[in-house]
Amino acid sequence: MSEHKQPKLRSAAWFDNPDNPGMTALYVERYLNFGITREELQSGRPIIGIAQTGSDLSPCNRHHLELANRVREGIREAGGIAFEFPVHPIQETGKRPTATLDRNLAYLGLVELLYGYPIDGVVLTIGCDKTTPACLMAAATVNIPAIALSVGPMLNGWYKGERTGSGTIVWKARQMLAAGEIDYQGFMDLVASSAPSVGYCNTMGTATTMNSLAEALGMQLPGSAAIPAPYRERGAISYESGKRIVDMVLEDQKPSDIMTREAFENAIVINSAIGGSTNAPIHLNGIARHLGVELDNDDWQEIGHDVPLLVNLQPAGEYLGEDYFHAGGVPAVVAELIRHGKLPHPNAKTANGKSIAENCEGIVTDLPDVIKSFDAPMKERAGFINLKGNLFDSAIMKTSVISDEFRDRYLSDPNDPEAFEGRAIVFEGPEDYHHRIDDPELDIDEHCMLFIRGTGPIGYPGGAEVVNMQPPAALIKRGITALPCIGDGRQSGTSGSPSILNASPEAAAMGGLALLKTGDRVRIDLNKGTADILISDEELKQRRADLEAAGGFQVAESQTPWQEMQRGMVGQFDRGMVLEPAVKYQDVAHT
Ligand code: FES
Ligand code: MG
Repeated sequence: MSEHKQPKLRSAAWFDNPDNPGMTALYVERYLNFGITREELQSGRPIIGIAQTGSDLSPCNRHHLELANRVREGIREAGGIAFEFPVHPIQETGKRPTATLDRNLAYLGLVELLYGYPIDGVVLTIGCDKTTPACLMAAATVNIPAIALSVGPMLNGWYKGERTGSGTIVWKARQMLAAGEIDYQGFMDLVASSAPSVGYCNTMGTATTMNSLAEALGMQLPGSAAIPAPYRERGAISYESGKRIVDMVLEDQKPSDIMTREAFENAIVINSAIGGSTNAPIHLNGIARHLGVELDNDDWQEIGHDVPLLVNLQPAGEYLGEDYFHAGGVPAVVAELIRHGKLPHPNAKTANGKSIAENCEGIVTDLPDVIKSFDAPMKERAGFINLKGNLFDSAIMKTSVISDEFRDRYLSDPNDPEAFEGRAIVFEGPEDYHHRIDDPELDIDEHCMLFIRGTGPIGYPGGAEVVNMQPPAALIKRGITALPCIGDGRQSGTSGSPSILNASPEAAAMGGLALLKTGDRVRIDLNKGTADILISDEELKQRRADLEAAGGFQVAESQTPWQEMQRGMVGQFDRGMVLEPAVKYQDVAHT
């Protein structure tokens, strides 16, 4: 154990409380029954939870079942006792109707476990998209010492000599299938090639983003995020994380000491530099709210927009997770930002007790094609734009994935190069889109914008990743592979479509999107940050009155109890999509 003065441990209230021998005996005897001794439980050793997100249901995180053995060894080595327990599983590609629906359920469950059991500190086993924010949100609410441990990305996928990235390849394969370049069997082969090992998506999707940001926030050991799941370094960092959490307990280093406003500002800048997913603002805004830290989508634009994209990973670039690791991962990105004075808070404290600058300063990448230099980036000004108008109060656009072709077509009006206008085609959710996208009656051409609604946190419980819609097959055959897409749903971070998403408030909450009609003209001005239906305020008012008179925006029935409960409590994407009644519970381990 470290030489810190032994603090009074939280677990002593369960296991070593002479004022209440009856309860203490009851607590102690049952934890003895699998072979722990009284001496171990009552000698002041920190009890360290291993919040296990891996299971057969969640293959992206399943490798944590193995890694937990190394975590345990680290905990024991440092003088702690490990208690491993399950977290409600969340598999992005397996859960219907959406995996996001379960982010808040896993959060709620983990809060109860961390609060209600004798746990002094916790190792959060993170990985697949929503597992990371669920764990960090719970740690934020309970505020006991916590360290995050990524499961790591899968190895690079390969097909016929080319890298195939998880998720990203699906979008490409769909286009190839639609264009008749491959058949069903070829489609399956191509997609399966992108998942060659244990671990999470190897692209810069939501998983790599959120794991990188858990490190950027200071909640992981430096360099932890990028290590591929099967590498020996992944076992080693699991051991180190187990060791470190014991000292964090003895030092009483809490999530609120690490995840400060400064740490979030750093994470926003790092998110732009890595080309992070549009799901990041939802999750970070949510974590911040559970800590009582102010953070909104205006911050993302103000702090993050003018940051260059440095990391050359799919979907914005060409490489994958193994390359990211060999190029130095998050520390190499941070070091490059520090060298150019672009990291706002180099002194922000991290899990190992050092500042982010102490951890990263001076690191230079060995692979300058994977992590580019600040002076020759992948793209300038790669952060998000926060759009507002009569369509919504806030919606996010990721500018780093807008193709040159798209820029030329839509953003090259010499009078106003940042504006585009088009005819709206409105779909009521993904089923309606799939049903009607090829309907010739819609007369979709290259001057149209595709809208999807009813897909937000309330409308499609949890919010569906459906905003990136492909144009009709007829347009793809003519070489038009992308149209502007706008919606109140989300978009997979592995997709490269130029979309405006996370629109808040959503149609189901009677946001402006609910009033849009197919055929309306819509104008988007990226320079001014506006998005408007080009109709009068009176007409808008009338449409709202008509819709309200007709009973409001209709959504499908809930299919499970949790869907109904969450719909009644959940906030909008721009406010982190948290359970609103949960926000007032902060620092609950100390109240
Ligand atoms: Fe789990 Fe992508 S599906 S990380
Ligand atoms: Mg995703």
